Order: sequence, then C-alpha cells, then structure tokens
Amino acid sequence: MSTTAAQQPAAEGVLDVRPLAGALGVELWAVGGGPLDVNSLDDAGCAAIREALCAYHVVVIRDQQMDEADVARFGRRFGELERHPYLGGTSAEPDVVPIIKEPHETVNFGGGWHSEMSFLPCPPMATALFAVEVPRFGGDTLFANQQAAYLGLSDTMKRIAEGLTAMHSAASQYGRGGDSDRHSSDRGSMAVDVSDEAQATVTHPVVRTHPETGAKALYVNRPFTEAISSMRRNESKALLEMLWAHSVHEQFTCRVRWEPGTFTMWDNRSVQHYALNDYHGQRRHMLRVTIAGDRPR
Ligand code: SIN
Repeated sequence: MSTTAAQQPAAEGVLDVRPLAGALGVELWAVGGGPLDVNSLDDAGCAAIREALCAYHVVVIRDQQMDEADVARFGRRFGELERHPYLGGTSAEPDVVPIIKEPHETVNFGGGWHSEMSFLPCPPMATALFAVEVPRFGGDTLFANQQAAYLGLSDTMKRIAEGLTAMHSAASQYGRGGDSDRHSSDRGSMAVDVSDEAQATVTHPVVRTHPETGAKALYVNRPFTEAISSMRRNESKALLEMLWAHSVHEQFTCRVRWEPGTFTMWDNRSVQHYALNDYHGQRRHMLRVTIAGDRPR
C-alpha cells in the first residue's frame, strides 16, 4: 500500500479530517472541532466533501438531523440519484431506500463484501447512508480500499489483472433461486424483487481507473462477479478466489460504528463494503441513496 488516510492532503483547512484507519475512512468535523451541518452546506463545503471522498473513500459525519427529504437533497448535490433496481420499500422520497432489519428478522441487507450494484453497466459512483435507529451494539459497516488492494498485488499480477475483463450479474442475489429468493421470509421488512432481468450480464475491467483521480482499483466482488472473460472456468474460479480474498484483507479495511445521526458516504469506484449482521434481536433503520456513476474504465 503506498498511501494511507493519514497522509492524504484533501480538504485541509476547510474541514477537520480525522482518520478512522490507516487504509481508508475519515470522520469530517468543522474546523474547530464542532459537528458539520450537512443540511446547510454551501458549494465550497460540498466540494470539500467530494475532495475528501476521492482521497479517503469513506467519509463519516456525526450528529446530523436528517429526514428522507434531507438525505435525498444531500445526495442530489453530488449527482443524479439512482434507485436499486431490485429493492422495493416505500418512503416519502422515491429515491431514498429504507434499509431496515427488525428484531425478529435474521437476514440483513448487504451482509457480505460487495461492490455497489456492479451488475449494472454504470454502477453508482457513491452511496450515502443515514442512521435513524441503530442497535446498542453491532451493526457496524466494514469498508475495503480497492486502490490499496490493487497496489498490494505484485507487479506481475497487476499486469495480468489490468489486461482482463470480468462478467458481472445480479443473478446469484436477485435472480430466481438466488439468495433473496431463498431467504425472502427471513427479510420481511426489506421488499426485494426477484426478477429474470437479474440474469443479464455486463462486462467490466478487472482493474478500473478512478475518473476523478486517475488511481487504479481492483474491481471484482464475490456476489456479483461471475467469471473472468476469455478464461476457462477453472482458471477463472482460481483467480477470482485469490483476488476476492486479497481485496478484503484486513490491512485494506476500516470499520464504521454507527450512532443515531451518523451520516456516511462512500465511493463505490474505490471500495467494497460489508454490513455486519451481528445484532439479532435488535432493530436497525437506515436511509440510503445512491448517486449515478460512469461506466467503469
Ligand atoms: C449496503 O448498502 O450494502 C448496506 C450498508 C449498511 O446497511 O450498513
């Protein structure tokens, strides 16, 4: 890994930037140490958050008061909002998806390492999540820096990976017989549409280049990356297993502990994330928006 969160210069002087871990992730506070107010950000404040997002990949803003309209308004300052194609759920704002796990439910949403909607031709560039209600313990979200994971490969493996593309689809999660279909009764409060459209595959580079910084990142994830193009099945399986395991090694990760009012945004062009499901018997209620992105290159 060649850079750490603590070494990055972004948003210096405009925000008080407090690293969460060496690999990625910062808390953002107002200069002087008080909480930011994301509902009253001016353009310079938004630009500083965007700069911090590109540099640190995950930004955490504590002590916010936001309703669904505020979450949507914040998201739209960064681009057009795009809803998850297979997630239902009603909210006052059609672009805001409630992410809820009730005490009696056993399956959570996002409970495994994944890259946001990589099954789409143009996956969202960022996701923002606001914590309405959180368990007394557990329910943290893990993030892994895929630029650091790319840099952590040998030069030989970097060259191999850079020449490859891979096929992605939502079939194993949202297709018939997929995880959501099999666990629908354990996830009552999250309406998930199982669909034949989930079989559609898209091809993405195995190493993508960040459109704003030019940094390279690994871009394969276990639930959505089906196979490396132009490889035999056994070759593809072996290489993907290695890359999946490497990409979420502890040294590339940080962990966000939620409090009511925590607002977190992450850059899907450079991270995978994982919502831990370790709080059975307790309620967790989040509000989520996703911001449209470019085709990975
Ligand atoms: C997700 O967007 O995958 C869920 C994240 C979370 O609930 O922490």
